[in-house]
Amino acid sequence: MVSNKEEDSSIITIEELFSLVPIEKLNENDLKKFSFNLNSIKSLSHINKNLIESINKCDLYHEGIINEDLFSFYRSNKNEAYLIVIAKDSSNNKSFIRYTFSKLFHDYQIGQLKFSTKNSFYKSNQFIDLSFVQLFLNQAYVFKLDYLSSNYIDSLHWWKKGLIYQIIPSSFQDSNNDGFGDLNGLIQRLDYIQQLGVKTIWLTPIYKSKFRDLGYDISDYCSIDPRFGTLDDFKTLINEIHNRQMRLMVDFVPNHCSIEHPWFQSALKNEKPYVDYFIWHSGKNKDSKIPPTNWIGYAGQSMWTWSPERNQWYLHQFMDCQPDLNFRNENVCQEIENVMKFWLDLGVDGFRADATKHLIENDQFKDEPLKENDQHDDLQVEYEAYEHTETSNQPDTYKIITRWRRFLDEYITNNKRDYIILITETQDKDVDSDMKYYGPNRWSRGNDMAINFFLAYFLGENPENRTGEKLSKFIQSWLEKLPNECWTTWTMSSHDSKRVATKLASSNLIDGFYMLLLFLPGTPILYYGEEIGMENLQYTKEIRHEINDLSAFNYGINDENKIEEKTRDGQRTPMQWNSDEINAGFTNATKPYHPLSKSWKTINVQNQLNSNRSHLKLFKQLVQLRQNEPFYSGKFQLILADKYIYSFIRWSSELETAPIYLIIINMFGAGQNDREDQHINLDFIKLLKCKNKNAKGKVIARSTNIKDNSSLSSEGNQVDLNDICLYSSESVLLQLLLNIHEIDLSST
Ligand code: GLC
Ligand code: CA
Repeated sequence: MVSNKEEDSSIITIEELFSLVPIEKLNENDLKKFSFNLNSIKSLSHINKNLIESINKCDLYHEGIINEDLFSFYRSNKNEAYLIVIAKDSSNNKSFIRYTFSKLFHDYQIGQLKFSTKNSFYKSNQFIDLSFVQLFLNQAYVFKLDYLSSNYIDSLHWWKKGLIYQIIPSSFQDSNNDGFGDLNGLIQRLDYIQQLGVKTIWLTPIYKSKFRDLGYDISDYCSIDPRFGTLDDFKTLINEIHNRQMRLMVDFVPNHCSIEHPWFQSALKNEKPYVDYFIWHSGKNKDSKIPPTNWIGYAGQSMWTWSPERNQWYLHQFMDCQPDLNFRNENVCQEIENVMKFWLDLGVDGFRADATKHLIENDQFKDEPLKENDQHDDLQVEYEAYEHTETSNQPDTYKIITRWRRFLDEYITNNKRDYIILITETQDKDVDSDMKYYGPNRWSRGNDMAINFFLAYFLGENPENRTGEKLSKFIQSWLEKLPNECWTTWTMSSHDSKRVATKLASSNLIDGFYMLLLFLPGTPILYYGEEIGMENLQYTKEIRHEINDLSAFNYGINDENKIEEKTRDGQRTPMQWNSDEINAGFTNATKPYHPLSKSWKTINVQNQLNSNRSHLKLFKQLVQLRQNEPFYSGKFQLILADKYIYSFIRWSSELETAPIYLIIINMFGAGQNDREDQHINLDFIKLLKCKNKNAKGKVIARSTNIKDNSSLSSEGNQVDLNDICLYSSESVLLQLLLNIHEIDLSST
């Protein structure tokens, strides 16, 4: 972790830096702007001598950005280059400016801070993204220019390189045998997580809660629920995570808290300053008997509940126990930032902001229209029946996200911390809405990544629609709309979305989906247990009383299909560690809080580690591969998307030595009747328009179901690209044994 130690503040003055400009290049006019003249330039007495020497060895001088506020230049030779940035003298030394320097150079994207005048935004030797440099007026920097250093990537771009592993702690590992997973249990399993190759752990809520909604009903934002442990356990957890070079991202639930939260309790009593912490209304046309609008919430009920204490309705986009906070109230905005600060001070590396599209409602309180041709019969409960024009993705919502990003940037600067990420759960099938969360432009950024659910949505499509073609449409819809220089995520399932094997009705194709998740450009988010292909527990009438996810009951509990469709408990079952211990090794309690999925005796970590080939072993292998180029900054190109096949390549245009990979997935088992004998022969010499007709590919990884007699069944095998044969649900990753110029990507 980064130390908070103050840097040596040097006594050097800005004038001295001008002496780094070769004298013949100095222009009187520029100097005048900065109220200098040639005589006022002093020699550099306080800057490190070696640094000056190195800079002076750079015989090429290039002008940088020069304007009213800034004088900048860089010097280079064959081996090194330095950028010197000098901001204008000003009495107002609190205002700062931001510049993009990376456009000045071809090769350099990063600068390592070698020198700075006082009050630097950055610490010395820190790697800075030159597309976004901030400095105060009166300040100056010397950067050593760099291509892509691994240090830099780790401090700033760590979230782009690594796998995010989502855990619901109540179902991961129980340490005190009360049937409820806890932080100490999680600590016991950190080695497993590290060995998976995980970079970042995302924990769903661990805060004090009645747990009517998996902890998303929070009664104290700055505490740990006793079922999970204590704040000290949390401190141990974060240390243990950091000791293993991993990071921790916590769930952050700003949209609503729980009715038990003291803010709501005070609001009920009309106590200041909490009176307007939530959204209150006296009823349609002031009639207390009629809710203000027809708004139906996500949890299957009206968004309004009457409070006899206040004689008013309060708004809740989710359950009635989850009142929405009022983000038009500045006090609320600040309270929420204090919550972030509380967890940041404990060392968390990022936030996954929950339910962001619901943050703000239109304050005109108009009814929402039904969707055109809506077929739902129960309009009192069906969220999907309506166009949420008044309660979703409101213009002011995006401003809140940019405000949080700015808050985090300031925190990073003031505390000299590595980059802290902000991920939002936008959860909208309309990609244009999702994209707005990235912020209006690079100077006013929003989230670092919006959770992209499009693989999960694809898996939720009717089986006959799960074709390679359709998959490609889903994938392209994100890749094409993602703003320049922005980054995405991929995810197949979650605590809200059924497990992959269950959606596919078999786990055969899961390996192919690992390849998508890990090798599409963007950061993969894996829901715990997917690495072994866990299956949902099916909720029937007989066990419906065991449902913990209370919102499911709003949809009517008598209809078996509805139970199955609406409860999310099926994908929240305990992690399946082994088959020798009771409850799959999750707890020794007689009854775990979430019941186990039925298939735990066959599908578990121990079994998969012991077998020759397994989902788990393949997954680990693929994660290792993904640590290297071309998967971080490399390019992506679709090669084929038809009824059965989805295939793409990844390569690096910058790093010649990076391998070129071809990924081929036969989607036949994704919905179309999975027939053992169904196979497809593909000619990739044609598809890639290969100049060398005999080009080969080397098998790097292949799905566990690839037949033993196939040429693809042994890693390292070299195969002819003109005849690749894949049976139903098989997938393979090949390294192309050719140069990128030998293929023609123009019209694929
Ligand atoms: C998000 C969570 C979901 C929760 C809801 C309300 O959508 O992912 O589980 O029910 O927010 O907090
Ligand atoms: Ca416990």
